[in-house]
Amino acid sequence: MTPPAPLHLEDTAAGPPAGSLLVRLADLPDHGGKDIIFTDGPHLLQLLVQRHGGEIYVYENRCPHAGTPLNLFNDRFLDISGKRLICRTHGALFDPQSGLCVRGPCKGDHLRPVAFEVRDGGIYSL
Ligand code: FES
Repeated sequence: MTPPAPLHLEDTAAGPPAGSLLVRLADLPDHGGKDIIFTDGPHLLQLLVQRHGGEIYVYENRCPHAGTPLNLFNDRFLDISGKRLICRTHGALFDPQSGLCVRGPCKGDHLRPVAFEVRDGGIYSL
């Protein structure tokens, strides 16, 4: 299946304008993640940011299987190996680079990537 096009947050009902700071790099240690939630009235947008081996990945925090967030209570998105993103609901595993589900009920589906840039010590929406 083809990966979905990157999501521009300002095109969503609850997302912030382009150029908004999502998280400072200083607050995101290597192998660290952040669960970020935006709301606007009844609308909700949930993102996950994961730093992994010097790379940064930002996805909509929504599992393609049942639509729930990958995490449950905290900012931990990596599996026990530290190499894959894991959905804690039914255990789907995702490649952090591509967002491809490599194992689990949504195998072959992708997480929705988010358009972003890294500058001035932070991760910003595009
Ligand atoms: S909701 Fe993620 S594996 Fe089922």
